[in-house]
This record gives sequence, C-alpha cells and structure tokens, in this order.
Amino acid sequence: MKILAANWKSHKTITETKDFFAVLAERKAHILPSSVHMIICPSFPSLVIARDEMKKHEIPVALGAQDVSPFPEGAYTGEVAATQLQDLVEYIIIGHSERRDYFEELDHMIEMKVKQAKDAGLKVILCVQDEDATVYDGVDIVAYEPVSAIGTGNPDDPENVQRVLSALQSRYPSVTYLYGGSVNSNTIAQFLSINEIGGFLVGGASLDADSFLQLAELCDTKS
Ligand code: PGA
Repeated sequence: MKILAANWKSHKTITETKDFFAVLAERKAHILPSSVHMIICPSFPSLVIARDEMKKHEIPVALGAQDVSPFPEGAYTGEVAATQLQDLVEYIIIGHSERRDYFEELDHMIEMKVKQAKDAGLKVILCVQDEDATVYDGVDIVAYEPVSAIGTGNPDDPENVQRVLSALQSRYPSVTYLYGGSVNSNTIAQFLSINEIGGFLVGGASLDADSFLQLAELCDTKS
C-alpha cells in the first residue's frame, strides 16, 4: 500500500478547494483506500472547507496541514498551534525545504514543531534533504525531497533515492519513507518498484484533481 500525499503549498482559494473536492466526490468510486492512502494538505484557510466536503461526500482521503507552530496555544501572533489543528487534520508536514530556505527554519525549531504535533496526537511527515538528517522521536513518515528536484521537473535519480532511503532506514527502521520532488504521471513509474519508497509527496501535480487521481491509479497498479 502506497501513501500519496498532496502538498498544495500557497495555492488554491476556498472556492478552488471546494471545486477540487467536488471532482473527488464525483470520482470517489475510483479512490481505493485499501491500496493507496491519500493525504491532502491544503493551506490553513482551506482546511475547514476541505474537512467539511470530505465528510459530506464521504471521500476516503486524509487531511494534513503544511506547518504548525513550535509553541503551544498562546500569545504567538500569526502562528497556528497544534491543538488548533487537532479537530481538523490527521497529519502535519514539518520541515519542508521551502520553510527552511525562505523562513530560516532551523533544526531546533523543527524539533519543537514535531513535539507540539505529537503532543496533540497528530501524525508527522518530516521532510529531509539527505541521508544525514536527524529524524526526531515520534516522526511517523519521512519525505526525502532533495532541493534540486522540487518544482524543477527533474526528479532525483532512482538509484540515489534508494541509496538515501536505505541509509535512513538503517538508522530509523520504524518510519515510512516517501520520495518527493517533481513526481508526476510521467516521472512516477521509475520509483514504483523501489521497495524503500512507501509513497510520494507531490506538489505541482497534486493541484489538479484529475492528475492527482491519475497518480493514485498508477500507484495502485504497481502495489
Ligand atoms: P513538486 O513539489 O512535486 O512540485 O516538485 C514537491 C514538494 O515540494 O513537496
């Protein structure tokens, strides 16, 4: 069973989110939760509508947030605490390279975020860039996403992905591993037969509901 996680980044208005879930609702018979576990991670303003649409149409996907505050609920202007997300999402993406690069997020901050998410009972998808990364206690899923592969159309070499994931796996055996970086319907095939890859974190190709469902179908045929 593969995991297919959508990282929408700063895309989609509330209306566009509703439209995406309307397509999923129409095609939900094609979503096979027993072979592909789909996780959709919209921006914060879209989470409520995403949750409501999923419930209303009984769409078998999980929801995730793209970030969380390193602090508990309190006086932290602009931040969203893990306890505020508890009723909305099952997963949180933490430590994406765009957060590290554009917002100067450092390891100690990422570790604090992981702790907040775990204390709130949420599952953590930790993004890492190489095999030397530290995987903090409680992390459920690690997404290996080399910066050179993100949004460039040039995914990492499958042999390199296998090398990095097996190195991480030998240090952190109880974690599920995803690959991310320019995964789309043209590039996914080369990764499907790699045993270490438990699924994919998808940016650009997750924004269109049909192309995301197509990826789910491709995962399904090889699992
Ligand atoms: P991409 O992004 O699929 O657009 O390369 C992946 C990610 O940043 O999670």
